[in-house]
Amino acid sequence: MKKHVDFLVIGTGIAGLSFALKVAAKGRVCILSKASADEGSTLYAQGGIAAVMNALDTYDKHIQDTLVAGDGLCDEEVVRFTIEESTRRIEELIGWGAQFDRKTTGEFDLAREGGHSEYRVLHHKDQTGAEIERILLKEVKNHPNIELLEHHFALDLITQHHLGAEVNRRTPDIACFGAYVLDEKANRIDTYLAKLTMLATGGNGNVYATTTNPVVATGDGVAMVYRAKGKVANMEFIQFHPTSLYNPMEKPSFLISEAVRGAGGRLCTLKGDYFMSRYDRRLELAPRDVVARAIDSEMKLTGDDHVYLDCSGISKTEILGHFPTIYAKCLSIGIDITKELLPVVPAAHYSCGGIVVDEHARTSIRHLYASGECSCTGLHGANRLASNSLLEALVFSHRAAEDAKTQVDALSYCNDIPEWNDEGMVLNEEMILITQSLREVQSIMSSYVGIVRSNLRLQRALDRLAIIYRETEELYNRSVHSLKLAELRNLIKVGYLIIKMAMARKENRGLHYNIDNIVNK
Ligand code: FAD
Ligand code: SIN
Repeated sequence: MKKHVDFLVIGTGIAGLSFALKVAAKGRVCILSKASADEGSTLYAQGGIAAVMNALDTYDKHIQDTLVAGDGLCDEEVVRFTIEESTRRIEELIGWGAQFDRKTTGEFDLAREGGHSEYRVLHHKDQTGAEIERILLKEVKNHPNIELLEHHFALDLITQHHLGAEVNRRTPDIACFGAYVLDEKANRIDTYLAKLTMLATGGNGNVYATTTNPVVATGDGVAMVYRAKGKVANMEFIQFHPTSLYNPMEKPSFLISEAVRGAGGRLCTLKGDYFMSRYDRRLELAPRDVVARAIDSEMKLTGDDHVYLDCSGISKTEILGHFPTIYAKCLSIGIDITKELLPVVPAAHYSCGGIVVDEHARTSIRHLYASGECSCTGLHGANRLASNSLLEALVFSHRAAEDAKTQVDALSYCNDIPEWNDEGMVLNEEMILITQSLREVQSIMSSYVGIVRSNLRLQRALDRLAIIYRETEELYNRSVHSLKLAELRNLIKVGYLIIKMAMARKENRGLHYNIDNIVNK
């Protein structure tokens, strides 16, 4: 089947939904989700969204905090406009119905997180993402120009390559004409032709064994762009959140928001040693890379599987009022955080790199935008400041929409695109191989490409991944496509990019820390 739309949007998190809403007045929009529409990292965002919303704070302070966290790799111009546009984007969210917690005085109840010099994180209890997803989805579902399709998986972008043209990574003029999409319920691969396509496919935490990311975060957008010979960068900067709940076997790992440390939570070893003063004068509110490395180092020194977060300095009223989800979750596994220490461990959380975009969220491929966690805008540099990602998605989706609205009328469809051909493909009867390979990939990445890296470990990871890559490509080339197989293939590509970019970076910067680079910084 061939389908024609003006705007094809792949992803129904904050980036995809906000873009769809803004372009819908200009043409027909089709927005895809590979799972149910609300499933994605946005739904689970806890701490909140950073923005300058009161008189005590200034854009300059927020800019400075973002640059410090980014450790010299941020694009200063991008940081400036993103933060200067924060207030307008938040007001828009509120206009759509988002409710952020307020004090009895009516002012916003702003929280503080690692790396922030001010209280500036707007939140809806510890369910900020769910609140944002709720209001955006409601708007999208009510919009007559938007068609929302769940359980539709974008397999690959369509470019000139599908017309038989020679495309290589140096070809400056690659264009995107839409995507091949697996309709999971109909079990069919359809051709979606679009004048403009937006990738909003989120992160890639599932390349690691322990992650806070939901299972849909498999780096599909990055892998699709890389296969289409588009530009991808900064993949070595994987952010490990310092505090996920230590509850072995639970996947994904449950996040313990940084806002808990902002409210007074302190880290200690199992023996009760409060160690952060040995690592950074900002203590528990140092940027995430510093805190995650400190925990990693303490766990290695003590041989323990986790450290503790001590919440005794936070009042019970604050815990129940601001962190009801975290409180209830911990209680469900027998820990009352108003009375007991909370076991925590770092987990892969956020990808600072991704598809390279310009200030209008345009990728290196014509007619293709990217926004949200799958993109690399220059805002985060080598380490993202907490709660800057929801903001980044709003700002870049807005800018992309403004740009797309000026382009779309002049564009037409490319009608020569062939339909997907899976003649000769066989049904893969060994699904278990896919699951096993996935576990191997996750184990390789967690063992060798974690918080602290070395040249030897990176080389080992690359060699081991190469074997799984060959096996998976062989399987992919002869099998009828399934979502799980395509996701595995994407995760292998993402793992490869993380390792290669980590090998290429010969300095320790932000989130990338290689013991063999110590002399270089
Ligand atoms: P997502 O919200 O992840 O959405 C991705 C969408 O893409 C999904 O709809 C998915 O189905 C779809 N998709 C993916 N691949 C395909 C495909 N091949 N075909 C079709 N559809 C596809 N950031 C903050 O700023 N503040 C916070 O407090 C915060 N807390 C967080 C807490 C947790 C537990 C996690 C995991 C992240 C948190 N983050 C936070 C990060 C932030 O939530 C994410 O970076 C952000 O929500 C990403 O939004 P997105 O729209 O890019 O992607
Ligand atoms: C958190 O609540 O700690 C997550 C915030 C973020 O990832 O930005």
